[in-house]
Amino acid sequence: MANDFEIIETRDATVVSDEERKFELSLRPTHLGEYIGQKKIKDTLRVYMKAALKRREALDHILLAGPPGTGKTTLAAIAANEMGAEFKSTAAPIIEKAGDLAAQLTNLEEGDVLFIDEIHRLNPAIEEVLYPAMEDYQLDIMIGQGTAARSIKLELPKFTLVGATTRPGLITAPLRGRFGIVYNLDFYSVDDLQTIVVRSAGILDVEIDENGARQIAKRSRGTPRIANRLLRRVRDFAEVDYDGKITEEVAKDALNRMEVDVFGLDEVDRKLMLTIIEKFDGGPVGLGTLSASIHEEKDSIEEIIEPYLIQIGFLNRTPRGRMATRLAYEHFGLDNLLNRQNNMPSLFE
Ligand code: ADE
Repeated sequence: MANDFEIIETRDATVVSDEERKFELSLRPTHLGEYIGQKKIKDTLRVYMKAALKRREALDHILLAGPPGTGKTTLAAIAANEMGAEFKSTAAPIIEKAGDLAAQLTNLEEGDVLFIDEIHRLNPAIEEVLYPAMEDYQLDIMIGQGTAARSIKLELPKFTLVGATTRPGLITAPLRGRFGIVYNLDFYSVDDLQTIVVRSAGILDVEIDENGARQIAKRSRGTPRIANRLLRRVRDFAEVDYDGKITEEVAKDALNRMEVDVFGLDEVDRKLMLTIIEKFDGGPVGLGTLSASIHEEKDSIEEIIEPYLIQIGFLNRTPRGRMATRLAYEHFGLDNLLNRQNNMPSLFE
């Protein structure tokens, strides 16, 4: 059953409880036909899967790049399900030794999907084990030490590796070159997120109208995981303070009270933007300085917080550091600070 897969989310610290994980799982589509958005990916993946099934081969290895919560794991699990294969999941940070990866690989059966999350974090020695495994379905490992050390070769079943990454730029060229299929998942449109919210509300048996779903969609940072999470919270407000139905009014009230603004920015996003604008005069400011100022890890700034701020045009990454855009100043009602330099009284008139 594709729904039994284990999900390991290590970087995205916002995935908190087991309960939340179960909730997310219950909403995940299991077939490509139910997967909303990412049309170009679905169109081609459907062809590759059909062709592989026809030839009775394993699907080619796939690299999925994209921001957290945009459906990489879901897509990998769907691929396994549609191919009638098992989905086995792990994440690079928990593969510490070559033996850990060898154990995963030897546990596979013909056609299975091995999903490696955050594949850009694999250590180089372990990555080397993957090369012959991906290319020739062979496992070359060293056993023993010193003069007794020798290498053994094992045949592996023909499997599909699906690697997921939030940082495609950090994938080494030899690893990237071994993926036959590479997809970049984009942030979702408001229309697609609205469809996802309506679908999820149906599964959860929550009454919602189009405008209510649209409000949630608009404030979900282009991310299905966030849309589903907000839906769950808005449902609480609808049940406690209203009659249970999510309308535009209910959604707006709930999201405002949760301090999710009209762009979907939350407290951490605001902190980052306001720090750049108010403390660093709009930038440029280096990542390290920013990280120390807002007490967030550099990685989570780069991988989780910034991509959406860049996408909505609030933030620019320049060689000299991060800069806030005019749009960001305007959003925070701080346009008065924008031309500060121009308004400075001249000292030498
Ligand atoms: N849940 C996560 N991603 C999804 C998608 N693309 N379509 C439907 N539900 C989803």
